[in-house]
Amino acid sequence: MGFLDGKVALVTGGGSGIGRAVVDLYVREGAKVGILEISPEKARDLQEKLPRDVVVVTQGDATSMRDNERAVADVTDAFGSLTTLVCAVGVFDYFTEIPQLPKDKISEAFDQLFAVNVKSNLLSVKAALDQLIENRGQVILTISNAGFYAGGGGPLYVSSKFAVRGLVTELAYELSPHVRVNGVAPGGTITDLRGIPALANEGQSLKDVPDIEGLIKGINPLGVVAQPDDHSWAYAFLAAKERAPAVTGTIIHSDGGLGVRGMTRMAGLEP
Ligand SMILES: NC(=O)c1ccc[n+]([C@@H]2O[C@H](COP(=O)([O-])OP(=O)(O)OC[C@H]3O[C@@H](n4cnc5c(N)ncnc54)[C@H](O)[C@@H]3O)[C@@H](O)[C@H]2O)c1
Repeated sequence: MGFLDGKVALVTGGGSGIGRAVVDLYVREGAKVGILEISPEKARDLQEKLPRDVVVVTQGDATSMRDNERAVADVTDAFGSLTTLVCAVGVFDYFTEIPQLPKDKISEAFDQLFAVNVKSNLLSVKAALDQLIENRGQVILTISNAGFYAGGGGPLYVSSKFAVRGLVTELAYELSPHVRVNGVAPGGTITDLRGIPALANEGQSLKDVPDIEGLIKGINPLGVVAQPDDHSWAYAFLAAKERAPAVTGTIIHSDGGLGVRGMTRMAGLEP
């Protein structure tokens, strides 16, 4: 018996990284899964590697209402319903701080980054809403350490993740008592997370940042260098309504303890 038997999920951005780890775990634990993924290569890989009787892939853009509606229709046509929406799309600003943000690119960069990191969540929830309400379902959004602390990106990325945190709070309120809405806030994780065209870093991938493992390990108390799989059980817990019927409006931190770094050790003092 799987932990998620009977669940039917839609995972946006399920083609790589954290979203892909969620897809793989959900399938292993008995869920049926639809995926909305923009990259044709990643969509093809999903189709080739995962069993067609439990996975349906929609290649499309989570910032488009039509593509979200198409993905919801693909899941419900294939599996009869939709109980769980996981939003795991995202793009990064590669730590571009305000002094380095080109004046003539801020507006475009804001639109591109907020479209993927924030607007897509609203569109995905809206597209899935009738199903989620009908099935007393759940929404799981992806925040980040950047939704809580400074320096996990530049001002564009950090403010976008604070906005997603706001969506968890507001949507949990608006959709009670029918739909539970929660989030997961991963810390630094080795993935393919990309930049954006307006900052000319859309070809950059987090996994190619020099000494990314050392950077991540050095800043969290547990000294973990997280891989996508390390977060996926947090998404499974939040999807399992029977195990967490009273949990809504909350965010699971999966970041090696960034909130408990403390001051003495940061200052190089022995406790
Ligand atoms: N990697 C980290 O260190 C880290 C830390 C905290 C939070 N996050 C968040 O985790 C989420 C997943 O990112 P990841 O690190 O796994 O990166 P990733 O690039 O491996 O995964 C994101 C996936 O979303 C897809 N995608 C991007 N834009 C899309 C769109 N408009 N429509 C549909 N699909 C789209 C990408 O092709 C990719 O498959 C993001 O929200 C990211 O901000 C990442």
